[in-house]
Amino acid sequence: FNIARLSIEPSSTLSALQEAAELLKNTNEPVAFPTETVYGLGADARRTESVYSIYKAKNRPADNPLIVHIASLDQLRRLISKNQPLNTQNKGFSDDSLIPQVYDPLIDRFWPGPLSILLPVKNNEHPPVSPVVTANQPTFAVRMPEHPVALALIALADVPLAAPSANASTRPSPTQAKHVYNDLQGKIPLILDGGSCGVGLESTVVNGLCNPPVILRPGGVSLEQIRACGGIWVNTQVYKPTAINMEKNYIPQTPGMKYRHYSPTAKVMLFLDYKEHEAMDCLYEQLRQQTMDKDEAKIGVLCSRKWKKESFQEFSNLIFLDLGQEGSEITKNLFAHLRELDLLGVNFVLVEGVTEDNEGLAIMNRLSKAASMVFTKDSSD
Ligand code: TXA
Ligand code: MG
Repeated sequence: FNIARLSIEPSSTLSALQEAAELLKNTNEPVAFPTETVYGLGADARRTESVYSIYKAKNRPADNPLIVHIASLDQLRRLISKNQPLNTQNKGFSDDSLIPQVYDPLIDRFWPGPLSILLPVKNNEHPPVSPVVTANQPTFAVRMPEHPVALALIALADVPLAAPSANASTRPSPTQAKHVYNDLQGKIPLILDGGSCGVGLESTVVNGLCNPPVILRPGGVSLEQIRACGGIWVNTQVYKPTAINMEKNYIPQTPGMKYRHYSPTAKVMLFLDYKEHEAMDCLYEQLRQQTMDKDEAKIGVLCSRKWKKESFQEFSNLIFLDLGQEGSEITKNLFAHLRELDLLGVNFVLVEGVTEDNEGLAIMNRLSKAASMVFTKDSSD
């Protein structure tokens, strides 16, 4: 097993990149690499065998479509040029007609960066990427990452990379090379270490092929930033499957299915607009239900903007972690802090939620998935 520490040993950078590129070109083995959002586990998006190896390493069923990562618009055009409908092939269409023009302002502003766009699969006889990547949908998602190691790797290999986050299934997305190592050691041949991911949450996935456009997954580019692009983007909507969980008071979720995603062991309690003592009252109720003594329970607290450590003094077995004040700090710390609490084996995690503007939308989306209980207050109170 080989970890190439790119940020620590710059002299090894080129050989590590070359080794990774060779693996991607010549084998079916996936390679973990840093992006500005989270670490990805990449393989050639055009080859079904390679793409399967990603799912195998992650131990995840191959039912969810993957994002394709490219290093340049030229590479994307080459990928989709073979996928044109028969009647337009070889008719001298200009390059620019290949990528729907609706995306121009987004590509201008956010590429390279944490934004994935949906493109049409136009000709099923000559699909641009393996049907395993698209999960047989009529569209596929593409993004150009901003991390220099990701860009260099994709360009050097000249391979479009299908890449989900490089965590084992049910674990939080990795934002450091050691997270990937902890999850996938022995299962993949190489991790490129590019340090901590700057954004820390996955990319925004947006569909501009419908009107109004829809954000399928909030992420590194905010709704406000997308709406500011003008045109039809002004009316961009957010697809929000978690909204049903954000009702007044708490709704215990059945553990399992999607809610096991980010926190398999601890019970995560997410609070919005709750003071420390109100959150602790809810915790005491849970402890009572589980006939657990407050001194035997190991409690993790993730605070963001207002909660103070002193307020939780009555718990002797407490781990208090600060997510930060700014949205960009919170996104950067979120997954790493959840992993840290998991490693420490806490029984409960109390999380101070944030309002859903700017980065807050993506933060609350991920926190809601991690939470087994969501506590909110009626805004008319
Ligand atoms: O930041 C990121 O996007 C990271 C890094 C590694 O780049 N990648 C990532 O990939 O999160 P993945 O495969 O875990 O995310 C795929 C998401 C899923 O929510 C999937 O449903 C959506 O993108 N998606 C992909 N293709 C789609 C399609 N054709 N239609 C609808 N949703 C799609
Ligand atoms: Mg993922």
